[in-house]
Amino acid sequence: MLIRTPRRGDPEPSEITPEKLYRDRRRFIGASLASGMMALAGGGGAAPLPQPGARFVQVPRGAFGTDETPTPLEKVTRYNNFYEFGTGKGDPAVRARDFQPRPWTVTIDGEVERPGSFDLEDLLKPHAFEERIYRLRCVEGWSMVIPWIGFPLGNLLKRFHPTSRARYVEFTTLHDPRRMPGQRRGILDWPYVEGLRMDEAMHPLTILAVGLYDELLPNQNGAPLRLVVPWKYGFKSIKSIVRIRLVERQPETTWHKAAPEEYGFYSNVNPEVDHPRWSQRKERRIGELFKRPTLMFNGYADQVAHLYAGMDLRKYF
Ligand code: MTE
Repeated sequence: MLIRTPRRGDPEPSEITPEKLYRDRRRFIGASLASGMMALAGGGGAAPLPQPGARFVQVPRGAFGTDETPTPLEKVTRYNNFYEFGTGKGDPAVRARDFQPRPWTVTIDGEVERPGSFDLEDLLKPHAFEERIYRLRCVEGWSMVIPWIGFPLGNLLKRFHPTSRARYVEFTTLHDPRRMPGQRRGILDWPYVEGLRMDEAMHPLTILAVGLYDELLPNQNGAPLRLVVPWKYGFKSIKSIVRIRLVERQPETTWHKAAPEEYGFYSNVNPEVDHPRWSQRKERRIGELFKRPTLMFNGYADQVAHLYAGMDLRKYF
């Protein structure tokens, strides 16, 4: 994001294939947490448990999505930002190919009454996940529409009983330079960290994703577990999470550390507030020729604007 050279890998109009009718193949991953932990899907659209071993189950479209046509899977998986696997848009698809996202343990600690860890396999045992078709607007000026498979982050956090001092949530990506070659270079301060205010984290739009389209999350998209906060610029959606810590003070975030004047803690999609080096008024939907206007809160203003009532969004960018 700090790098300004023109991006290779942008699709040419001639490359744009008509979207395969994804609507016909709406299949969701069924999954659960370990026994003792309840279904994480938010209800209304949550799937019943599939048979053990069955990865997908059909459920109706959830209430949180958009009707826009999803960006083709080939674009979603070949045009990525994942600096742990290189800074080029095409790097993660190639360089994360051999990454093994198993076994994978996620720790939830800090301001919770019941800190603990869970194995991702337990999360992927039969239970209900939801499909959420969300726009992802990258701070660099492009956007996609992605059918995520996941569950509300808040449902998971509640299981660990946040204390009254929990005001923010800090997320941390795996730090393992042997497995993530980009971490051998000091291009960012590793591990990648991100944060949300507690009310943002508990908002029903905020999900943890374990899949997209009808697949488990591809490595380049943040396997095996990544955050998706659709009203914020894409960099808030941290990938390959190993730790979720509830804290009292606003946590530091990777891009804020790298360039504090350019990337704030909130990073809400806001066409009114320019990035210091470029306008945020328009975006190019990957696969489309012409730019379209960027919407306040990425089009989710009805659901989230109240979280920021009274805040000066130029100051808290
Ligand atoms: N998470 C980690 N750990 N490392 C990264 O480099 N890039 C972010 C975000 N999450 C990033 C990350 C940025 S800048 C964007 S736009 C989105 O991931 C891109 O997600 P996608 O590649 O699945 O579209």
